[in-house]
Amino acid sequence: MKHLLGIDDLSAGEITDVLHRAEYYARAMDDGRWDRHKLADKIVLTLFFENSTRTVTSFDIAAKRLGAQVVNWNAELSSLKKDESFSDTIDTLGAMRPDAIVIRHHEYGAPAFVASRVKCPVVNAGDSWREHPTQALLDAVTIMQEKHTLEGLSVAICGDVAHSRVANSNAKLLTKMGAQVRFVAPAFMMPEKLPAPGVLCFDTMEEGISGADVVMMLRVQKERMERSAIPDDSTYFRDYGLTVERLGLAHKDALVMHPGPMNRGVEIADEVADDPHRSLMTRQVANGVPTRMAVLDLVMGG
Ligand code: NCD
Repeated sequence: MKHLLGIDDLSAGEITDVLHRAEYYARAMDDGRWDRHKLADKIVLTLFFENSTRTVTSFDIAAKRLGAQVVNWNAELSSLKKDESFSDTIDTLGAMRPDAIVIRHHEYGAPAFVASRVKCPVVNAGDSWREHPTQALLDAVTIMQEKHTLEGLSVAICGDVAHSRVANSNAKLLTKMGAQVRFVAPAFMMPEKLPAPGVLCFDTMEEGISGADVVMMLRVQKERMERSAIPDDSTYFRDYGLTVERLGLAHKDALVMHPGPMNRGVEIADEVADDPHRSLMTRQVANGVPTRMAVLDLVMGG
């Protein structure tokens, strides 16, 4: 694997390889036994042009767990603030020869642009509403730990699908791996073009999550919406919030997921978010580290 720019670049076999390696690191971390020097002497440069809590921190920890050093570049403190162009900034950083670049950017295709200009591997940590491949991979690892397969599962992805790179990458990955993906959203939050073949669309939670094995909730991405289109929080919760009653319509063993950040009382009720038997949010965050170890290992260590 040279770069990881999107799920489109990966075949089902390659996805399986990444998942196996991530599962290996997840187990190894539980046992405290893995090669802590696998990426010794490597330098990972993280470039985050958008806010992040989980993703930036877990890439940082993942790289360090494998012995790499991490340079966290800060857009706010950079020469972009002195009107340097994005391409000049990338050429400048590339000239310093990092061993890998991890980038999150609000513009469509920015990671691919960076990959075309630098000599090292590039990992997409989220671009625009398009792709967030490591999130989809860590979500798949989390589902596999519980259900042992992705094939044949029914996964309902609910909420602001139109603005969600998490929904896009998950729909592509899960469909490639044989799951049935459903999008559940009001019309104005449903994408015009579906990211993968066979995705079913529903405009009510009741229909959309009925019988689902996994219910994946999404935040209303207000920062990507026209102000006038932003729904009122309580109306949205009434119609699309995941409550205990609604979750009762899903499969009796249904799992609840959310990539975070969560907005409690908007897309999810406290009782559901805090249910230790159904809710996998903390596990998703935990799996971010071994999954990103696997990806960094594959692009740099081999
Ligand atoms: C998401 C993101 O930034 O794409 N979060 C994440 O990476 N775990 C989702 C969001 O911002 O709602």
